[in-house]
Amino acid sequence: MTIQRVGVVGFGQMGSGIAQVCAQAGFDTLVREVEQSFIDKGFKRVEGSLARLVKSQRVSEDDAKAARGRIRGTTSLGDFKDRDLVIEAVVEEISPKKKVFGELDTVCPPGTIFCSNTSSLTIVEMAAATKRPDRFAGLHFFNPPVIMKLVEIVKALTTSDETIATLRDFVTRLGKTGVVCKDSTGFIVNRLMVPYLLGAIRMLELGIATKEDIDQAVKLGLGYPMGPFELIDYTGVDINYHVANAFFEELKDPGMAAPPLLRRMYLAGQLGTKTGKGFYDYDEQGKRKS
Ligand SMILES: NC(=O)c1ccc[n+]([C@@H]2O[C@H](COP(=O)([O-])OP(=O)(O)OC[C@H]3O[C@@H](n4cnc5c(N)ncnc54)[C@H](O)[C@@H]3O)[C@@H](O)[C@H]2O)c1
Repeated sequence: MTIQRVGVVGFGQMGSGIAQVCAQAGFDTLVREVEQSFIDKGFKRVEGSLARLVKSQRVSEDDAKAARGRIRGTTSLGDFKDRDLVIEAVVEEISPKKKVFGELDTVCPPGTIFCSNTSSLTIVEMAAATKRPDRFAGLHFFNPPVIMKLVEIVKALTTSDETIATLRDFVTRLGKTGVVCKDSTGFIVNRLMVPYLLGAIRMLELGIATKEDIDQAVKLGLGYPMGPFELIDYTGVDINYHVANAFFEELKDPGMAAPPLLRRMYLAGQLGTKTGKGFYDYDEQGKRKS
């Protein structure tokens, strides 16, 4: 099977990047959000990103215009009936994801492949909410999808080899590099990264060093492009909180439980760049103030 028409559910931080990557690769792309204002906000994000690519001469003005023209928005999953592949990128909680896939299953033809961009939830649990568990996989993009080269292709217990082959081909056509892994919590990258991020928060809670010094140490000592607190603010305190809960739920390892500070920041709505306050403070454009 060759993918031509792509659907993306959720036009937030990841959904807008994934839709843009698909459109830039020439795919007809339909996005769905819960309300029109979120669609408008997503298009603003895509247009801003395309403008930056044009300014830095990585994309021509004509190609940027064509890519923008390949993305359409809708508030109805009913419009997804002609999609060959649907990628879900809604909030990192199992019940809204299962609800989306249950609804899509009644709308899309049996051949449509469903994928979740989840960072930590179990793929087979979502696959089981549909009548196509063999055409269901994880497709995990990294933030920001337009820049990051890697996509993890996650094979659930039920995913067919044919589905994995189709997704490998799709990821290559996006200009990305795909790696295949089992449906195991955190897949490859987050399985390595989440214990490190949670460890950094615990280090801060223990007063071992300031957040500024921990970030600096990681950047200069480990050569990482961002420190752990900069990264959590960028990816979202909410996402990291939900991911920690999913890790603890699966592994029952106390070291994976959400640290109290992370939980309190989540409860306070201090979600990072998207709310203007996380470990650091940000202006309207997401630029760091302190
Ligand atoms: N943020 C990251 O760095 C990152 C990286 C890789 C994967 N992911 C995964 O991508 C997914 C989306 O994350 P994001 O950072 O784009 O989040 P986000 O908050 O930017 O976007 C989530 C979108 O989900 C929609 N939504 C919320 N509740 C919903 C519901 N009940 N039904 C349908 N839609 C709903 C919202 O309108 C919003 O646009 C998550 O599964 C996350 O784990 C995130």
